[in-house]
Amino acid sequence: MRLGGERERNEKEGISVKKVLVTGAEGQLGTDLCLLLKSRGYKVLEKNKTQMDVTNPDKVEEVILNAHPDVIIHCAAYTKVDEAEKNADLAFLVNTLGTRYVATAAERLGIPIVYMSTDYVFDGESGVPYHEFSCPSPINVYGESKFAGERIVKEVHSRYFIVRTSWLFGQKGPNFVETMLKLARERASLSVVDDQRGSPTYTVDLSSSIVGLIGTSRYGTYHISNSGDCSWYGFAKELFIQRGMDVDLKPCTSEQFKRPAKRPSFSVLDHMGLRNNHFAPMPHWKDGLRRYLAQNPS
Ligand SMILES: NC(=O)c1ccc[n+]([C@@H]2O[C@H](COP(=O)([O-])OP(=O)(O)OC[C@H]3O[C@@H](n4cnc5c(N)ncnc54)[C@H](OP(=O)(O)O)[C@@H]3O)[C@@H](O)[C@H]2O)c1
Repeated sequence: MRLGGERERNEKEGISVKKVLVTGAEGQLGTDLCLLLKSRGYKVLEKNKTQMDVTNPDKVEEVILNAHPDVIIHCAAYTKVDEAEKNADLAFLVNTLGTRYVATAAERLGIPIVYMSTDYVFDGESGVPYHEFSCPSPINVYGESKFAGERIVKEVHSRYFIVRTSWLFGQKGPNFVETMLKLARERASLSVVDDQRGSPTYTVDLSSSIVGLIGTSRYGTYHISNSGDCSWYGFAKELFIQRGMDVDLKPCTSEQFKRPAKRPSFSVLDHMGLRNNHFAPMPHWKDGLRRYLAQNPS
């Protein structure tokens, strides 16, 4: 939905959003989100870690008070999934406590918040896509800290969107796509994990859907990923097809490619929230990948 449509809907719901504050504005999602918001005419207050370290409650309060945005999109996070296993204090400090500081200040000033969460709140034991009312049960520290962030938002805030997303790729890497392209240039053959399934998500499509949420009063939890799903192996295979690269690609198991943090074997997200609240459906991940590659031709 374009800005005209968003504005129409917002006006109908009696909400006017002009000024948006984005935390973690220089991250992968933050970068594309800020670009999209600006292109649609919003005034964007882009806050990086130096301008607004979310672990500093006084700074958080001061920045939000001075900026007084109409909505806050909280993208800042500790996202190093493997390192979080040995840095649990830091993961919880940023993802849980930091979120509490942002959400508390926002609630005090009556500002709605969007909290970015993850498919890694689920354990991967389900054989069917997880919807917004499925029970989270994270299996790694990163997922635990993000799920604790969700609970904090619900405890301290009254008008929130919790957005769970997955397997992001965007202009501001590093991301799986860029890693695969780099490895394919350096190695004769590549082995990629084939026993984890999820939905790759183009940050531009995710941003567009988030912009559709803000300004409405349809608060709650939403699953927003590109539609369709695949394994990491399937993702790499499609990438090389779209790029026209002849790569010797082999499937492997998570057991063969051991990493410090366990990953859910199945974390496909069902978009029940978008459907039931009449938001636009998400494009297929292969379509998102095509547009990403067209934007990043090298
Ligand atoms: N990437 C994925 O595949 C994925 C999947 C599901 C959900 N998500 C969620 O989506 C959101 C955006 O992810 P992303 O991929 O854009 O992550 P990202 O690229 O790692 O960006 C996160 C940003 O937060 C900043 N940050 C870290 N600690 C901070 C602090 N104490 N105060 C303020 N800023 C801080 C980082 O700065 P530095 O780089 O300087 O540390 C970085 O710019 C996150 O909430 C993440 O949990 C991501």
